[in-house]
Amino acid sequence: MDQLPFDGDGDVLEVPPRFRELQREQPIARVRTLTGDEAWLVTGYDELRELYGNQALGRAHRDPDNAPRTTPPIVAGVPTHGGRPHAGVDKEQEVHNRMRRLLTPAFAAKRMEQLRTRIGGHIDEVLDAMVTPPVDLHAVLSQPLPMTAICEVIGAPPGDHGKLRDWWNRMSDIGDSARAGAARAEFVDYTAALMAAKRREPAEDLVSHLVHNPEDTVTSAEQAAGLITGLLFAGHESTMSRIDLGVLLLIRNPGQRAKLLADPGLLPGAVEEILRMTITPGLIGGVTRWAAHDITIGEVTIKAGDAVVMATGAANYDPERVECPDEFDITRTCNPHMSFGYGSRFCIGASLAKIELQEVFGRLFARFPTLRLAVPDEELPVNRDRVAGGLAALPVAW
Ligand code: HEM
Repeated sequence: MDQLPFDGDGDVLEVPPRFRELQREQPIARVRTLTGDEAWLVTGYDELRELYGNQALGRAHRDPDNAPRTTPPIVAGVPTHGGRPHAGVDKEQEVHNRMRRLLTPAFAAKRMEQLRTRIGGHIDEVLDAMVTPPVDLHAVLSQPLPMTAICEVIGAPPGDHGKLRDWWNRMSDIGDSARAGAARAEFVDYTAALMAAKRREPAEDLVSHLVHNPEDTVTSAEQAAGLITGLLFAGHESTMSRIDLGVLLLIRNPGQRAKLLADPGLLPGAVEEILRMTITPGLIGGVTRWAAHDITIGEVTIKAGDAVVMATGAANYDPERVECPDEFDITRTCNPHMSFGYGSRFCIGASLAKIELQEVFGRLFARFPTLRLAVPDEELPVNRDRVAGGLAALPVAW
């Protein structure tokens, strides 16, 4: 039986070849995960889409303590979904529906377009400050920007963004639970104060919506802080990595980069292509789910309680659905990638993430047309022990 993670050449953008072999031969295959437990690995595009749409696959398990796992509960300081499912299979959909109802209005299209201008302004400030090369683009842009964007969504005043960043760094330091717990308590107090401020003076933001929603008002600061923390977990590193890896893709593909510079109308398609090619399998292989009851798909029966690894990174290269999948082509007209998932758990922040990426890639190379790596490509520091992979730094010069 195959053992995850699969061997590869170590490149930060690589989907190891074994994923593609399984996609051809056995698009739903039994594998061993990082923890040695067994799981189903789904690499075929159609199979993945069908399973993403199946409500019987979720994040809960009837016996969470004995559920097969896809990672240890914490990897490199980051708690993982694949490490421990939630209890409460029967309540899962109800809890999930409420979470979506509470969060979705803050990501409405009109609000997102208002944020586009502010996000563009934040990026301009960063680029203005890039005066003397080399600069670590990861530290100055990719890391802070997604956090700033989430602060804008929740409605934290700009003067508080630094504090939020500091709490987040401490809260996600699971190696030191006392420090993380103290930061979390401070963050709940901050959320309570922000809720009080938005009760007095509502604006177009998440916290105002939570405290003023007549159908389902959130009164508990603990609960509001939980929703915000959920956004940070889902939306911070994911976007950060796509910025880093998108820069790398455009640096590695000067022809595509020249096309983009010559025709900014290609930007939305370029961002879709960056999204398609930057979902790497990491240590887990993909998103983890558990089956609430037996599911038959093709010749395979996934038994109740089994773990399933949704290998989106591989599915995005399925030649049955993507023409010439190995080519980075920003002019593709058909790009049905599943980088934001599919179905009832489709990424709530997809439009925000796309706006961030469009604003970054619309500006960065126009401002620095000679942008290049400041170190040899093979010396880029890759996060090998982090669940999501990605880069630890991106030194650039121009
Ligand atoms: C390029 C960046 C991003 C990528 C690639 C990404 C990817 C994903 C994926 C694959 C899922 C589905 C997970 C599953 O099926 O279990 C998801 C869910 C989610 N994402 Fe994103 N995401 C990104 C950015 C963001 C941002 C910026 C936010 C918010 C600020 C966000 C908030 C969420 C939330 C709340 C969920 C949970 C949805 C649910 O369970 O119903 N994401 N994201």
